[in-house]
Amino acid sequence: MTRRIPEPFRIKMVEPIRQTTAAERARALDAAGWNPFLLDAADVYIDLLTDSGTGAMSDRQWAGLMLGDEAYAGGRNFHHLCETVAELFGYAHTIPTHQGRGAEQILFPELVRRCGSAQPVFVSNYHFDTTKAHVELAGARAINLLHPDALDTARAADWKGNIDLDALRGTIDTLGAANVVALIMTVTCNSAGGQPVSMDNLRAASALARSRGIPVVLDAARYAENAWFIKQRDPAYADAPLPAIVRAMFACGDMFTMSAKKDALVNIGGICALRDDADLARAVQVRCIAQEGFVSYGGLAGRDLEAMAIGLREGLDEDYLRWRVAQVAYLGQRLADAGVPIQTPTGGHAVFVDAARMLPHIAPERFPAHALACALYLEGGVRAVEIGSLLLGRDPRTGRQERSPFELLRLTIPRRVYTNDHMDYVADCLIAVQRRAADVRGLEFSYEPPLLRHFTARLRPVESEAVESA
Ligand code: F0G
Repeated sequence: MTRRIPEPFRIKMVEPIRQTTAAERARALDAAGWNPFLLDAADVYIDLLTDSGTGAMSDRQWAGLMLGDEAYAGGRNFHHLCETVAELFGYAHTIPTHQGRGAEQILFPELVRRCGSAQPVFVSNYHFDTTKAHVELAGARAINLLHPDALDTARAADWKGNIDLDALRGTIDTLGAANVVALIMTVTCNSAGGQPVSMDNLRAASALARSRGIPVVLDAARYAENAWFIKQRDPAYADAPLPAIVRAMFACGDMFTMSAKKDALVNIGGICALRDDADLARAVQVRCIAQEGFVSYGGLAGRDLEAMAIGLREGLDEDYLRWRVAQVAYLGQRLADAGVPIQTPTGGHAVFVDAARMLPHIAPERFPAHALACALYLEGGVRAVEIGSLLLGRDPRTGRQERSPFELLRLTIPRRVYTNDHMDYVADCLIAVQRRAADVRGLEFSYEPPLLRHFTARLRPVESEAVESA
């Protein structure tokens, strides 16, 4: 047996969490319209809804908060952040934002304007849902070109976050490079299961885009976990220090958007950074002032910028990353050993359970992964999130449910928050649900919002699993 990797930290402050009874959970879920997003966090025992902003800051980050310079303009924490970004990533222009989507909303419209196409498109390995929303709000279309390896959850492959290079070439040829606003490479690829993009794939995709004059954006929320996987899985980088791998990854991009609420280990914050395009930086800064805040704080307090500058570096600590990825793998292994179907191998921030395989009696229109999320909550107060048909929504033109390539339940693990005893508890609950999987019922809407419906939809269990053909 391989030795377990213990936490490379000790705990100096605790936050009590409370278990609920089965009757309390049934009442809470009913009141929440069978939508875990609408549960009160106080009614959740282990919260695996997201790894975003839910991590624990270190003592150094908390100490950094006390060094906050709350000057409106040009505060020292902004300079610390700029220096850190320049050193770690090699980008000259840093624009802080309130979170990742803040960076998307100030960058994408400017890229669309510059592109000048009447039919602008963004291409990506996979657009995260807010990323897709901001592409569309900017008047463009989002095309996902994930490598087909990722869709077969049972098949282990090292680089399930890769973009399909043939499809990328074909798409650029078909649409015409002049219509492609940007290539967005999401590292790691959240929607495919926190799966890494290989250095070779990143380089090849970037070279292809650049050869056609298409700028490359890195969606860098999980830059450190991706770099760690490259070190583990690509023999060419086995001995490379992580900062060198990060530099090589970011050399493939011309700019990046980052939700710092993930690998940069803060509870709030984001970054838009550009390698060297001073004109574009100026244009994006103007949007930042209008939408986020002045260019040296971007909607954050000075103290938040300091915590972010410290977190960007801490996120690259090898002992921490080794433990982090091992914890995710530990939960995955416990589930896999019990025959629960998961995306293999496990990714950086979450275990993705294949609900289509676990609940084959529930049709995609009845949201098997969401039904599984509800069953898991009822079982043990564990909150997870659906990545499947409910999230994807309807085709705006036809009103039909779009076909999701997968029905996944994401068990998203906050950073430095839970121990492996918590992971055992989660695994035990899910295994208990698996034993009575045939009894889990699909769901139908009692209220379906027109947009971003998964956040506020209300549902109820169906009487019968039969689906009318639309
Ligand atoms: N890009 C990726 C790959 C993300 O995973 C997220 C957020 C964003 C952009 C947007 O960043 O939330 O700071 O505005 N993902 C969270 C999640 C919400 O739960 O996966 P944000």
